[in-house]
Amino acid sequence: MKIAIIGYGGMGNNHKKYIIQRLNDSDYPEKLEIAGVYDIDPARKAFAAELGLKNFDSADEIWKDDSIKIVLIATPNDLHLPYVLKAAECGKNIIVEKPAALSSEETEKMYEAAAKAGVVFSPHQNRRWDDDYLTVRNIYEKQTVGKVYRIESRVMGSNGIPGAWRRVERQGGGMMLDWGVHLIDQMLQFVHSPVKSVYCDYSYIAGEEVDDGFDLEVKFEDGLIYRIVVDTNTFIELPRWQVYGMDGTATITNWRRDNVEGKVVRCIQRVDDKLEGVNAGNGFTKTMAARRSETVEEFPPEIVRGDKNAFYRNFMDAVIKGVPTIVRKEEVLRVFKIMELAKKSARENRVITEKV
Ligand SMILES: NC(=O)c1ccc[n+]([C@@H]2O[C@H](COP(=O)([O-])OP(=O)(O)OC[C@H]3O[C@@H](n4cnc5c(N)ncnc54)[C@H](O)[C@@H]3O)[C@@H](O)[C@H]2O)c1
Repeated sequence: MKIAIIGYGGMGNNHKKYIIQRLNDSDYPEKLEIAGVYDIDPARKAFAAELGLKNFDSADEIWKDDSIKIVLIATPNDLHLPYVLKAAECGKNIIVEKPAALSSEETEKMYEAAAKAGVVFSPHQNRRWDDDYLTVRNIYEKQTVGKVYRIESRVMGSNGIPGAWRRVERQGGGMMLDWGVHLIDQMLQFVHSPVKSVYCDYSYIAGEEVDDGFDLEVKFEDGLIYRIVVDTNTFIELPRWQVYGMDGTATITNWRRDNVEGKVVRCIQRVDDKLEGVNAGNGFTKTMAARRSETVEEFPPEIVRGDKNAFYRNFMDAVIKGVPTIVRKEEVLRVFKIMELAKKSARENRVITEKV
């Protein structure tokens, strides 16, 4: 089956690798042939040519080629909508990069167009198969640290906003659309209680017109508080995840592929008669004194490995056999809803109470 890639930048090129590694080199019976790519940047065209890929001279060539069954859109975010609508009109099955669009309204339009054309449409929410996230999800679901009451999910770097279009609002720049869409999606995948309220603060440390980070706090009806922090100006990172349970705490320090690390500390003796206080700063405290090791047990988390091939296999199954896509419309729209409430909260500087 043939696929064309529109937008052959960083992610377009990653998809080429993913198609080979995660589908063609796997035991999946159907393979994908990359028919070619379309990009407007001569440097990216030259790069594609160096890799032996065909460069289409225009997107029209793709639309008119009936042998191309799938189109993958990896352009700047504001171009997702026009390309998706056109691809649907031309009967192509569509993978669109995240964020699917710039708003829930645009996303609805995409799904409507795909449904009308009878084609498969899926945003690429690949971070559902990240090992660090699945490991945290497992801790939450198995109650490894007891009932979880607070989760902190952080991604931190010091390189500012990368590239050109990610700095431009009308092109769908900013870290909420870039990273929020992944991290909120992860959250909603495993927390099944309805959202009760949202509070968010955007940061503009580098003075860009879009957010270079944000601090989002989502409260759920079952009492869970879930905080998501994205920061592009941090030179000493905090752990990727911190999970607070009634009986312990878990930390996942990094999110390296195939090398996630962390630890779990679980309480085995709540009251410690032998606890001694410590001098801390200009005072003394027993409340915040470190526990004696006899009262806790410490062990590495059970690392859960994500199936990196799952997205492509499911998309192919959806095209060939008509199975539902893993990334579902309701899920994508719910993520947008949270991002929109976050934006409203940041703009109005208040907690937005709304059931989502
Ligand atoms: N899922 C992920 O993990 C992940 C990671 C990175 C980026 N992305 C997404 O992938 C998309 C692309 O991001 P990127 O980092 O590759 O950006 P990029 O700037 O590296 O690539 C975008 C490419 O689109 C091309 N382009 C611009 N206008 C075009 C047009 N009219 N027609 C065709 N091509 C055009 C540019 O020349 C560029 O080569 C974005 O939606 C981004 O959010 C997803």
